[in-house]
Amino acid sequence: MNDKETAAIADWSCTVNGRAVALQLPQARRLLDIIREDLGLTGTKRSCEIGRCGACMVLVDGAPVNACLMMAYQCAGRTLVTIEGIANEDDLHPVQRAFLEEGGYQCGYCTPGMIVSVKALLDAKPNPSFEEVEEALSGNLCRCTGYGGILRAVHRAIEEGQSRP
Ligand code: FES
Ligand code: FES
Repeated sequence: MNDKETAAIADWSCTVNGRAVALQLPQARRLLDIIREDLGLTGTKRSCEIGRCGACMVLVDGAPVNACLMMAYQCAGRTLVTIEGIANEDDLHPVQRAFLEEGGYQCGYCTPGMIVSVKALLDAKPNPSFEEVEEALSGNLCRCTGYGGILRAVHRAIEEGQSRP
């Protein structure tokens, strides 16, 4: 931490995965670093760090956000959900299960960000069109899968969502 950052340290609080979190940190600290380094939630991945790949996607007040582009002061007091907060208490979230069952991953590095983006889409729109799915995933890059398994997983999650009472 340089002198400028140290001088800017202040109280910071948020709700993260349903728990109140209070820290002291530089207000320009990136949300990605807070999540991974200060909170130890390493499911959120660090990759391009310039907002291009979606590996660091988290939900801020329910909307998908690249954590590498958001600073502490921009998310103070808001509600954050990381991939660790997506599962239900004793079971995977349906989107996680669909990725698992349809083989929507290879190395898995992009998978947390993909799942966060898909969850945000289906929370807002349970029965999206193919174009809406493509649009929702346009900020998430996968270098391994060719997207076939990922799109199968999304469509399975949509179908299962519709068959739930
Ligand atoms: S690491 Fe944030 S978008 Fe790539
Ligand atoms: S599964 Fe490897 S980057 Fe997507």
